[in-house]
Amino acid sequence: MANPSPESPPVVPHGPVAPRRGFISLLAVLAGGIAGLVPVAAGTLFFMDPILRKRKEAGGGLLRAGDISDLPTDGTPVRVVLKSDIVDAWTIYRDRVIGSIYLRLMPNGQVLAFNDTCTHLGCKVDYQPAEKQFFCPCHQSAFQLDGERKNLTPPRNMDSLEAEVKDGEIWVKYQNFQTATKEKKAI
Ligand code: FES
Repeated sequence: MANPSPESPPVVPHGPVAPRRGFISLLAVLAGGIAGLVPVAAGTLFFMDPILRKRKEAGGGLLRAGDISDLPTDGTPVRVVLKSDIVDAWTIYRDRVIGSIYLRLMPNGQVLAFNDTCTHLGCKVDYQPAEKQFFCPCHQSAFQLDGERKNLTPPRNMDSLEAEVKDGEIWVKYQNFQTATKEKKAI
């Protein structure tokens, strides 16, 4: 029998060896993929954290506005400054002023709440005890104590807010609204 020539191609093994190598390669790829996903998932959670935290803190959106015992029983409006924690991306600013409102305790125990921003162009509305009205000094908008406008300068009544009393505490859903529009649109 003749010897194989030096240029003969190398002998390639066949049989069960080749499939086993393929399986090991597949395992290696899967393990690498999973290992690569862990930091990606951790990074995603880190960047989502403020959004998730904000959703958790939103709750019913009610802010404590004081005690019912703070309000005069004759319905005289009281201006209240509302504070809350503000979440800005990864920072929480504690106890920041977010707005101001008027509260009135009605004879039936109900509490009325109004945003004190003028619906005309956004100045702050004052309470005038002598006239028993709300009045905006910027362009003379005037409102009755139930928030109804007294002249046509403002496009709509004062913006009422949802309020409820729980165990003697007043809770208000604070919202701001677009000014200079007939419709009350939350912003
Ligand atoms: S902003 Fe109040 S009257 Fe114009």
